[in-house]
Amino acid sequence: MTGALPSPLPEVSWRRGFRRRMLGWFARNAQDLPWRRNRDPYAVWLSEIMLQQTQVATVVDYFNRFIKVFPDVRRLAAAEEEQVLRLWEGLGYYRRARQLHQAAKIVADQYGGVFPRDAERLRSLPGVGRYTTGAILSIAFDRPEPILEANTVRVFSRLLGYSDDPHAAAGQALLWSMAQAILPRKQSGQLNQALMELGREVCKPRNPQCEVCPVLMLCRAFRENLQAIIPRPKRKQNIEAVREAAVVIRRRGRVLLRKRQEAERWSGLWDFPRFPLPEVPAEKINRAIADEVRRLTGIRITLGPKLTTLRHGVTRFRITLDCYAAKYLSSARTPSADRQQKWFRPEELQDIPLSRTGRKLAEQL
Ligand code: ADE
Repeated sequence: MTGALPSPLPEVSWRRGFRRRMLGWFARNAQDLPWRRNRDPYAVWLSEIMLQQTQVATVVDYFNRFIKVFPDVRRLAAAEEEQVLRLWEGLGYYRRARQLHQAAKIVADQYGGVFPRDAERLRSLPGVGRYTTGAILSIAFDRPEPILEANTVRVFSRLLGYSDDPHAAAGQALLWSMAQAILPRKQSGQLNQALMELGREVCKPRNPQCEVCPVLMLCRAFRENLQAIIPRPKRKQNIEAVREAAVVIRRRGRVLLRKRQEAERWSGLWDFPRFPLPEVPAEKINRAIADEVRRLTGIRITLGPKLTTLRHGVTRFRITLDCYAAKYLSSARTPSADRQQKWFRPEELQDIPLSRTGRKLAEQL
């Protein structure tokens, strides 16, 4: 094992050979993706935000739909947040969509709809961190700015034979310097994309396909047969089981939804009234759920039968959601006092952004 030995950055001839091989490989193997058809910084930015936490295959359709409705940053800036979230629905990590929308407004209002070309201004936009800044500057403007994300962390760790934790401060510092050092003066956007694509398609977390890798002869992990243990695996997160209840309250052919608030998970999305399942004995559960609904919505109900149980995972939580029907009795709040909840006709649910389980439940109505 190399242990904590320092991994010096590769010297000039290594870097030259590396660039040449990577760019050649990418010229032959680059996937044809919709955001690669031109170098519009808006498309680059949008695709990079969507690609954070989401697979390429999933992103393609979302990207195409989104860019059709909002073909440029001004059109996005002028949209209602709900429409943006509706187009994002199903991609998860909705904060990305809300920050994207906020950032579009800043670009439209403060920069006349033109993306700034300097790192500091870009990085001050909501949701744009060091990675996205490097991606926009290199891919859209061909500036030699580094990127580091999950795929390139793995590629660089293996190339360098870095067996310490690549996510700790020392590892991050080393890998960012590597990401900078390997960039050519021109075509850095191509190189950055090639690195990510190599990580995703060839230098995979498990069973990397070293036999087709264009840079295996430059890879220290390959030479020392350490690719199975580099990068060092992340500590597994403990999965926590959570039980929640959702209630479909009906009144004159409509159902009640509430908009999830700033501090809540999925804020900005609509959902059926939903809360942790009260921990009470079984014979008291109906009463406890009705009380919880009243506390949350100001509405008195009689709880009906359980409709279904949905299971889904969010970050480290495995959620079991018991869904109940309920009948409206009366309301303690005047409707105008609370614009965050609303009665919807079932067909109106098509046009509003719903949580994933909210959508499943709506489809069953
Ligand atoms: N993963 C995230 N962004 C990417 C890009 N621009 N090219 C290839 N893979 C990526």
